[in-house]
Amino acid sequence: MKTVMKYNFCGNSGVQLPAISLGLWHNFGSVDPYDTAKEMVLRAFDAGICHFDLANNYGPVPGSAEENFGRILRENLSKHRDEMFISSKAGHAMWPGVYGDGSSRKNLIASCDQSLRRMGLDYVDVFYSHRYDGRTPIEETMQALVDIVRSGKALYAGISKYPTHLQQQCYDYLREHDVPCLLSQYPANMFKRGAIAKTSSSNLAVAAENGSGFICFSPLAQGLLTTKYFNGIPASSRAGRPTGFLQEQQVTQERVEAARQLNAIAEQRGQTLPQMALAWLLHDSRVTSVIVGTSSVAQLEDNLLTLDHLEFSVEELQQIDNILSLDGLAM
Ligand SMILES: NC(=O)c1ccc[n+]([C@@H]2O[C@H](COP(=O)([O-])OP(=O)(O)OC[C@H]3O[C@@H](n4cnc5c(N)ncnc54)[C@H](OP(=O)(O)O)[C@@H]3O)[C@@H](O)[C@H]2O)c1
Repeated sequence: MKTVMKYNFCGNSGVQLPAISLGLWHNFGSVDPYDTAKEMVLRAFDAGICHFDLANNYGPVPGSAEENFGRILRENLSKHRDEMFISSKAGHAMWPGVYGDGSSRKNLIASCDQSLRRMGLDYVDVFYSHRYDGRTPIEETMQALVDIVRSGKALYAGISKYPTHLQQQCYDYLREHDVPCLLSQYPANMFKRGAIAKTSSSNLAVAAENGSGFICFSPLAQGLLTTKYFNGIPASSRAGRPTGFLQEQQVTQERVEAARQLNAIAEQRGQTLPQMALAWLLHDSRVTSVIVGTSSVAQLEDNLLTLDHLEFSVEELQQIDNILSLDGLAM
């Protein structure tokens, strides 16, 4: 049976995203094998994953994921631009000096131009403020997003990782300036559940209340929600590689043991652990998409099969909750 991609509307918008998106934070930089990166993008697109999530600083080296993605587009997908939804972001350290970091108008506008040049695009579909920098007024950052959209360099605006107490202000500003927030991007997985907590003040609930789509990043806890760390840290894994953001000390006994227990439930469901972890997020209909990162086509194929089994019984959800309430798992 061929897995069929599922598409979800982005909050109140008329635009849809695939339930599974591909992120290029790791595995697509100049330190990574280009051919594997190309195969993953092409296989993803072929399977209906039409949303690719990038940012100025993805690599390493920073910028190289956008350059590689631009090359893949130019050489293989140039006829398909209108079938694709491409994002970029600015807000983390990118170039030297005081303008290459943070949420200022100066940084966002220059960064968007740089990203377009690296990818060889006229526009991105969504441009995000990558983070709140703790200093720049929300009005300055949101107005920069409004102006980027008005200038035609992005079709939609998004926010990423904005703290709960500022989230509503972002939505209000953008809506009042006729550029409603299309997407809110937050970390969410079985070990990091704050943003998707079942409360009326969670990031997910506030996004849904405001008609914004919600997209989860690091849905597999950077690989902890797989079986790869059951017997130590493989040198080829994200925690084992010197350029990986996941640190060895984050691969704790508690998390590995919880992953083992979760894996037993996944097996009973006839799924792999990554498939169950993705399905568990998508089970909430307010979640528009999950952005997976993969280091091989085989991982991508595995993740795609998630869509064949998205339902959970009440008992399964309870068993999972019992495991997730164990001490020492939160990230
Ligand atoms: N807005 C933000 O601030 C922000 C922050 C982080 C990420 N993001 C976005 O979210 C995307 C995804 O983040 P992430 O890469 O941390 O996601 P993730 O899906 O939680 O982790 C990806 C890693 O999990 C492993 N993996 C994935 N599928 C697997 C499978 N089926 N079997 C075994 N291992 C598997 C791989 O690890 P190995 O490399 O060990 O094989 C892969 O590199 C990023 O690319 C980026 O677009 C956004």
